Amino acid sequence: MAEIDAPEALTLRAIGIDDALSCAELSRRVGWPHRREDWEFVIGLGHGVVGVRDGKLVATALWWPYGKSHATLGMIIVAPEAQGAGIGKGLMQALLAQAGERSLMLNATVAGEPLYARLGFRPCGGVRQHHGHVLAVAAPKLGASERLRPASTADLSVLERLDQAATGLERKRTLAALLGCGECLVLERAGQPVGFSILRAFGRGHVIGPVVADSEADAPTLIACWLHGRAGQFMRVDLQLGSGLGDWLVQHGLAPAGDVTAMVRGDLPAAPGPARLHALINQALG
Ligand SMILES: CC(C)(COP(=O)(O)OP(=O)(O)OC[C@H]1O[C@@H](n2cnc3c(N)ncnc32)[C@H](O)[C@@H]1OP(=O)(O)O)[C@@H](O)C(=O)NCCC(=O)NCCS
Repeated sequence: MAEIDAPEALTLRAIGIDDALSCAELSRRVGWPHRREDWEFVIGLGHGVVGVRDGKLVATALWWPYGKSHATLGMIIVAPEAQGAGIGKGLMQALLAQAGERSLMLNATVAGEPLYARLGFRPCGGVRQHHGHVLAVAAPKLGASERLRPASTADLSVLERLDQAATGLERKRTLAALLGCGECLVLERAGQPVGFSILRAFGRGHVIGPVVADSEADAPTLIACWLHGRAGQFMRVDLQLGSGLGDWLVQHGLAPAGDVTAMVRGDLPAAPGPARLHALINQALG
């Protein structure tokens, strides 16, 4: 009788920065644009597991704590040839055990939604990705009492206050990391910070996010400031579904490129406002 090599069992182990290149190869196989650097960024900020079989990385799943009460989950991928065999469920069970009592949020693809629903996640909104090559965009017009100024690390508490008001989450560490790898502008009105936005390299080009502003009317200013002078460059923005900014982005070259369903398991964080999160950091970090 011919001998058949039984496939080696899957091993789950903690993810580390050194996995970033293999993770980028895996995510490319499911059509995601993340580069090695994008994986290094999210791995450095969070925790998670990888699934390894026959010495090859075939699955990933991460989570990011925001304070003691909440966390987001993301980068949940099973290699196409390994899907449908319970690995995704196993990854999720590992993350649920690590995250403990926290309420958990994620943005689910169509492929992931049934898995999360079975584990107690419920839909609570959505996110629409816009991307494309930027058209010619005028510099934003500012009122007499307004100014846009570059942020430095000294502004971390300003960003943290606006972001906390918008999300109800403690994201200081993530904001500090974003300041370290991206460019940030703060919008001031009469000397008071009323919003900020961050541009950073990501995937096929750049991403604008988070965009946090007290008023939705200020969000185009905080996006146009990055689009201006970048005609032809590839840009991405992940908008909260139902945002009034979609048509405006399309006019400037950033077409809709797919929706995901926001889901929560437990309680949504209470965001005091008036600031709102108009565009996400990315779909994994929220
Ligand atoms: C989503 C993904 C991680 C699921 O991984 P997987 O290993 O194939 O999932 P599992 O085999 O563990 O399936 C888990 C459960 O979901 C169910 N399920 C999986 N896909 C399903 C589908 N398309 N429709 C209905 N149920 C589905 C399974 O039947 C199983 O249910 P059970 O626990 O009752 O048996 C995988 O499809 C993937 O990597 N997709 C591409 C990347 C992606 O979209 N990731 C999600 C990001 S949010």
